[in-house]
Amino acid sequence: MKPRIFLDVEAAYDRWADSYDALDNPMVYAATAALERQLERFAGKSVAELGCGTGRNLAALSRAGAAVLWGCDLSARMLEKANHAAPGATLVQHDITRPLPVETGRFDAALVSLAYEHVARLDEPAAELARILRPGGFALILEIHPFMTLSGKGAHFPDGDREIHMPSHPHSFSDWLTALRHADLTVTGCTEWRGRDFGPDAPPKLRERYADTPFLVEWVVSR
Ligand SMILES: C[S@@+](CC[C@H](N)C(=O)[O-])C[C@H]1O[C@@H](n2cnc3c(N)ncnc32)[C@H](O)[C@@H]1O
Repeated sequence: MKPRIFLDVEAAYDRWADSYDALDNPMVYAATAALERQLERFAGKSVAELGCGTGRNLAALSRAGAAVLWGCDLSARMLEKANHAAPGATLVQHDITRPLPVETGRFDAALVSLAYEHVARLDEPAAELARILRPGGFALILEIHPFMTLSGKGAHFPDGDREIHMPSHPHSFSDWLTALRHADLTVTGCTEWRGRDFGPDAPPKLRERYADTPFLVEWVVSR
């Protein structure tokens, strides 16, 4: 086993930024596949991505015809990448556990992909997610499944001969449902993706080791 180094979330993603998009990461693959199935819903919409990372999703949303794109992230180095990947998007360095620098009801839609894992409590971020959506707006949330986090899995990446780890918080389904209900968000869809639900081009680790394990959870919520 490679020696592990533990960094805080911002430092870890600053360090991961250069290799993030190139790595063959099963969780990123899974979130990409789940987003692809929903991309059409974002066409013509004003969209915010909270924890937008390198901007790979903002670029996909732009190709899918999203009309306005806004993204925020904790990591300045991830945002530098996003600036190149999605030049038309407005990008802000911001912590999603704090009130978002956006007026109430500004967006038709929002995406949160693999970012809430790093947030200890869902209540405030969910309330802010709801606040920035217009009435009738929707959000797509893609997150590591609690079965994975509760069995000790979390975001990490190779860095030379070491592995970088960072804080990762399990959110049970009751945590999710309580936070979403308190935020007045209505759950319109919940999918638990297992390894076998992904196509033949999925990383072998995902299709084989996690064939029957809920790996990624997808929530669709409306305001
Ligand atoms: C696994 S990456 C996902 C990036 C992108 N959403 C994607 O799907 O590729 C998680 C991102 O969330 C960001 N993040 C984590 N905690 C955050 C926080 N409290 N506020 C803002 N961004 C945060 C990290 O900096 C990182 O860019």
